[in-house]
Amino acid sequence: MLIKNIKIKNFRNIENAELSFDEKMNVISGENAQGKTNIIEALWLFCGAKSFRGAKDGEFLRFGQKKGYIEIIFISGGTEHNARIEVSDKKTCYLDSNSIKTSGEYAGVLREVVFSPSDIALIDGGPDKRRRFLDISIGQLYPGYISFLKEYNRSVLQRNRIIKEFKYDPSVSILLDSFEEKIAASGEKIIDYRKKFLEKINSHLPDIFWGLSGEKEKIKSLYVANEESSMLLERLKYLRKEDSLLGFTSVGPHRDDIEFFINGVSAKNYGSQGQKRSVAISLKLASLNVIYELSGEYPVCLLDDVMSELDEKRQKYILNHVREWQTFITCCDPSNVERLSGGIIFNVKNGGVV
Ligand SMILES: Nc1ncnc2c1ncn2[C@@H]1O[C@H](COP(=O)(O)OP(=O)(O)O)[C@@H](O)[C@H]1O
Ligand SMILES: [Mg+2]
Repeated sequence: MLIKNIKIKNFRNIENAELSFDEKMNVISGENAQGKTNIIEALWLFCGAKSFRGAKDGEFLRFGQKKGYIEIIFISGGTEHNARIEVSDKKTCYLDSNSIKTSGEYAGVLREVVFSPSDIALIDGGPDKRRRFLDISIGQLYPGYISFLKEYNRSVLQRNRIIKEFKYDPSVSILLDSFEEKIAASGEKIIDYRKKFLEKINSHLPDIFWGLSGEKEKIKSLYVANEESSMLLERLKYLRKEDSLLGFTSVGPHRDDIEFFINGVSAKNYGSQGQKRSVAISLKLASLNVIYELSGEYPVCLLDDVMSELDEKRQKYILNHVREWQTFITCCDPSNVERLSGGIIFNVKNGGVV
């Protein structure tokens, strides 16, 4: 994967920018609140996922403007593509000059991995963060997975709606039958994809974490399914009464989680901030390797503010690690990145880029 260039107009605080990128290292430097993360966010939106900042579509348009866009030319699978996202009161997406229904259709066309400081929540935040990480990564590898996920989520919502009536009116069980079958069928696939993906992650994560921790710490990650996929249908039926009192579906992959252990103890419960951050970065680098392994192409690597939070040894380890593929890295002081990597340095100041 290679992003050749980007054009930006009225996206966030960037009024106008046209940037051509290096095939390997692109350093985006500048002081705080100048627009560095905004550029990373613009690049990220073309992988089909929502903003890693949790931003809503309406937040992208530059204050006081009516229309803006971001547009890139990139190479994927040996073919050059163009993509454009127009932002106004709504978002309109194009791929190779054809309009597409949602940005979700970019998934699997341009693959990207992003790391941002908020990713520490992957370790100490709620399980939804970890499921989202799995879902975005797998969705970029197998766009069909996104359909299973949609079908699954829809069916769970339907079951939740009907299960509330079940306690007053047991005759709705006929309706429950069909939704539970859908939940079990798509849920089984989701669990299967996630477990396989995490298994692949586990073939890279320990080495990366070992290197990043100065060869001191061992890591293990574990998929925690709240129910075996083969038992899902049976359990859904068994739990009807209980779920009707709870008012929601208490079993299935929408409640699964990943656990991380550093030297045998839970990273979430006992890890230091530094350790948690290292786990999060290692996880992202591992996913980069897995996506390469399974797709044959390195995804584009977006690293937002990764340097400021790590000591020099860890910085060096990461910069050495990302040599192989196209990387975008933001930082306040480009000097240490510069020394190690070459590439292009962009300086961002008040929404302008030189
Ligand atoms: N829709 C928008 N219109 C104009 N400015 C925006 C918009 N969204 C964010 N900003 C501004 O962008 C700046 C932050 O940019 P950011 O890329 O996060 O900075 P940094 O360089 O620290 O990464 C802030 O000053 C914020 O007010
Ligand atoms: Mg920033």
